[in-house]
Amino acid sequence: MQEIDINRLPRHVAVIMDGNGRWAKRNALNRLTGHKRGAGAVRTIVRTAREIGIQYLTLYAFSVENWSRPSEEIKALMLLLEKYLRDELKEMLDNGIRLSAIGKIDALPPAARRILLETIEKTAANRDMVLTLALSYGGRDELVEVTRKIAMECVAGKLDPAGITKEHITQHLFTAGMPDPDLLIRTSGEYRISNFLLWQLAYTELYFADILWPDFSRESFIEAVVDYQRRERRFGLTSDQLARM
Ligand code: IPE
Ligand code: IPE
Ligand code: MG
Repeated sequence: MQEIDINRLPRHVAVIMDGNGRWAKRNALNRLTGHKRGAGAVRTIVRTAREIGIQYLTLYAFSVENWSRPSEEIKALMLLLEKYLRDELKEMLDNGIRLSAIGKIDALPPAARRILLETIEKTAANRDMVLTLALSYGGRDELVEVTRKIAMECVAGKLDPAGITKEHITQHLFTAGMPDPDLLIRTSGEYRISNFLLWQLAYTELYFADILWPDFSRESFIEAVVDYQRRERRFGLTSDQLARM
């Protein structure tokens, strides 16, 4: 395996953790067991990202569309979330990890919401890595919410519609204050964004792994970062222009 260049790390890595159900099916287990094993992979990847020195790690844990899954599966996922947060608090505190969340958090069941908010509060002073969980998250919903807020400012006379800029939008996103992801990883061999961070991914490098999420390992994560480091991010410029910068 190739070495990571720690001077050229992606600041922000976002992950669409997909394939728990197929992993379970492949191993003749139920979907819940797949999700449990998925939580194990979350632990591994958070630890690896922190060790490497990634500053922002954002994990897509539950989409707005996922509310349409069978109610037993939703219930099990919410219980797993509670368990994960309970089990990981110590590790977050020991390793300077600050927890954050994006999405319609109010839609979560009260017990899950409570422990989520408590963990965010308890880890608020940590400075080494921001771990953001996308929960009840939808990129289009986020943009609708932003539009609504900006429209209200206009109606209140605080903002002139002609003066709306990209920065206004960025400041109203759930991710306000965070850099855009440099690298997006999606597991399970699917090549889609599934309503994740639609605005923020504009210039993100995309990496698709043909590995089901429970099998995504420390080595898999490192491989994704190494692959990212081989790329030239041009942002619309020419290679020659970049060389002169
Ligand atoms: C990802 O695994 C976890 C969530 C979306 C909550 P899936 O449950 O989507 O697994 P597949 O895609 O059915 O294999
Ligand atoms: C995306 O996975 C959402 C999460 C990983 C939480 P899905 O399994 O819900 O996405 P689709 O349905 O394959 O697009
Ligand atoms: Mg899936």
